[in-house]
Amino acid sequence: MRALVTGGTGKTGSAVVRGLRARGAVVKIASRHPRDPDAVGFDWADVSSHDAALAGVDAVYLVAPGLVSDPERLMVPFIDRAVAGGVQRFALLSSSAIEAGTPGLGAVHAALRARAPAWTVLRPSWFMQNFVDPQHGIGRGVREARAFVSASGAGRIGFIDAEDIAAVAVATLFAPADADLILTGPQALSYDEAAAILSEVLGEPVTHRAITVEAWCARLVAAGMPAPYAAMLGALEQAIAGGAEDRVTDEVLRRTGRPPRSLRAFAQAALQ
Ligand SMILES: NC(=O)c1ccc[n+]([C@@H]2O[C@H](COP(=O)([O-])OP(=O)(O)OC[C@H]3O[C@@H](n4cnc5c(N)ncnc54)[C@H](OP(=O)(O)O)[C@@H]3O)[C@@H](O)[C@H]2O)c1
Repeated sequence: MRALVTGGTGKTGSAVVRGLRARGAVVKIASRHPRDPDAVGFDWADVSSHDAALAGVDAVYLVAPGLVSDPERLMVPFIDRAVAGGVQRFALLSSSAIEAGTPGLGAVHAALRARAPAWTVLRPSWFMQNFVDPQHGIGRGVREARAFVSASGAGRIGFIDAEDIAAVAVATLFAPADADLILTGPQALSYDEAAAILSEVLGEPVTHRAITVEAWCARLVAAGMPAPYAAMLGALEQAIAGGAEDRVTDEVLRRTGRPPRSLRAFAQAALQ
């Protein structure tokens, strides 16, 4: 396999690069700031970078450009180019909250289903990495104040380790599912329950405070997020509060042969 990994410097993409290499694939890492000898300059917004990135590859891992509300505008033409150039296999990182055919990543999902020779859409729940990522509001709160807020109340989420998402991406690039897969960790947890686990692991209290969706979106916009993107995330918070993410699936075990990591094990590795 010769694979292009978009988002190859990010949380899931960097693990996909490692996983593909471990299975003998030749990997090109797509990045706006190529540093690795195997990296290729790539910007979703710069169509002139797309052909060179796709040259000579037969598989692609797709991660949408960050903070863009209409990624289909850039990603669907790219998929068309890739298929025309002979790419056989695709794995798209979407979200458990996004159905095929809905605007944004749902439109990319639908395009892949209609046009790719072999494909998988990964629909993970929320990442465990959010609790430790200094770029993420929750991770920053945990790190700086041992406190964070959400607008999802007592709604539960099947938090998943990005490494487990990447493991499924690698498995399905070799054995495409031609389907979308909802990916979760082993347990659905509310933010209060997650805070209790983080408190035990850190040996000091971590607190979660539920705030309104309006207040939560205002915080994101104040931190620099485009308002339409914040509104989209706000709607997802509301859906979580209503139970939309309160589920677990066995897809990580089914596709990789090993169970997904628990939040406790993740936090022990990341925070201790
Ligand atoms: N966090 C969650 O809880 C969660 C849950 C479900 C789904 N998701 C989805 O996960 C995705 C993020 O994946 P991730 O966490 O693996 O990535 P990440 O760690 O956020 O990194 C973003 C990656 O995208 C690349 N990138 C950003 N803008 C780009 C552009 N204009 N052109 C080319 N590359 C660009 C960056 O590469 P360079 O900087 O090197 O160019 C980087 O490798 C999002 O689509 C999000 O919706 C997240």
